[in-house]
Amino acid sequence: MQTTQRQEPSTPSTGHPSYNQQDWQKGYRSLIEEYDYAIDEVDGQIPPELQGTLFRNGPGLLDVAGQPYHHPFDGDGMISAIAFQHGRAHFRSRFVRTEGFVAEQQAKKILYRGVFGTQKPGGLLANAFDLRRKNIANTNVIYWGGKLLALWEAAAPYRLDPSTLETMGLDDLNGGLQPGDAFAAHPWIDPASEPDGGAPCLVNFSITPGLSTKITVYELSIEGKIQRRYSHAVPGFAFIHDFAITPHYCIFFQNPVTFNPFPFLLGQKGAAECITFRPDQPTQAVIIDRRGGHAMQVIPVESGFVFHHANAFEDGDQLVVDSISYASLPSLAADQDFREVDFDALSPGQLWRFRLNRTTGTAQTELLESRCVEFPSVHPDRVGQPYRYAYMGAAHAAQGNAPLQAVLKVDLTTGTRHLWSAAPYGYGSEPVFVPRPNATAEDDGWLLTLIFNAQRDRSELVILDAQNLEQGAIATLRLKHHIPYGLHGSFTPECFETI
Ligand code: CO
Repeated sequence: MQTTQRQEPSTPSTGHPSYNQQDWQKGYRSLIEEYDYAIDEVDGQIPPELQGTLFRNGPGLLDVAGQPYHHPFDGDGMISAIAFQHGRAHFRSRFVRTEGFVAEQQAKKILYRGVFGTQKPGGLLANAFDLRRKNIANTNVIYWGGKLLALWEAAAPYRLDPSTLETMGLDDLNGGLQPGDAFAAHPWIDPASEPDGGAPCLVNFSITPGLSTKITVYELSIEGKIQRRYSHAVPGFAFIHDFAITPHYCIFFQNPVTFNPFPFLLGQKGAAECITFRPDQPTQAVIIDRRGGHAMQVIPVESGFVFHHANAFEDGDQLVVDSISYASLPSLAADQDFREVDFDALSPGQLWRFRLNRTTGTAQTELLESRCVEFPSVHPDRVGQPYRYAYMGAAHAAQGNAPLQAVLKVDLTTGTRHLWSAAPYGYGSEPVFVPRPNATAEDDGWLLTLIFNAQRDRSELVILDAQNLEQGAIATLRLKHHIPYGLHGSFTPECFETI
């Protein structure tokens, strides 16, 4: 195993060998101001072949006029766009002006309950039976069919101008979404869609909760039109944040959870705080055929809680799904401050391989990577295909649970690992793999990731050579401010700035 570190970890006077909880907490502060500037503080060299735009989404606000949101997942979506051209870069950020964001900023107070426990002021009377949801558009951002879309899994996307990041309004995908339809925050792009003659197609889904859960799959043409839409119901409540695709299948993991709606209805808790993980019960892998009659098959797999899948591919009558799974997941507590989380008390997310045998209806599991990891990324042309390299945000230390401070590359063929770490002062998130133009090797490209540097109290965009993490960052673009820890984003080769 090969590892590399940007800096030797030190042990701050209070804290852990690689991180300091007070430093980590500083990344969770609202960023109220919006920005538009050329990035002129760069260590190293931005590769001139790197052309396009990295869009990031995440909660930009952690409070409204000083009233804190209970959890960052309730924070209003803020889009960052980092455009690259001719070895230079430009930064821009804007909030998604959702209906709820605009109303709360005008009122200067929290007007909506949040799924993750944010309550309106006024106690139970103000919150009981208020089941309105605020579409916060904070989870992902994609450029598809000529539209920039900010996504939040329980509602329709918001469309933004890709040049100015100005909010254009809710988008119904050219009439494809009906009022009330949701569009999840985890689309995949099938790089060679069979029913589309080998053209790319965007596959996404929505979840309609109820006594049984309806899963709807959407497949969008390269023009952004919904070409295919099909649904299945699975028994019981389902918390499904992400899924996986292959050329012929969509795979959903129905985590073993129970949902007790009463504390939510009565105004005591957010909806997500009413979910209880049941590690004594199996996860159900729901396989939906993308072809013909869209048959569904359900295969039980070893219990675990999965937010994110790295990739999936077909291997004869088996489906191989690589996912980040947690052995246990504590229920969100209504009275706990998320900033005071005890990392050591939680299970780490780990990369597992699930082999689903469609003939026998059984599954095998294998631990691929025991290090604490999250936010996987692969080469866009390998989505749904056999692949060799997985990239992910990772803890600095090989064992235990900790904040993400590193980027890990796993070679699934040789088992070799490569690690770049920003410890002890850097705190990371999702790395995005961008292939070098005209490259042939699967790992010939760059990893782009935002790091909050607690020592400088600013964020930086780090560019790594995916074939050589050992050499450290090839460019560090220092921003003028911090960016609150984000969720997901994507890269498009189109550059919307004149740089
Ligand atoms: Co996600």
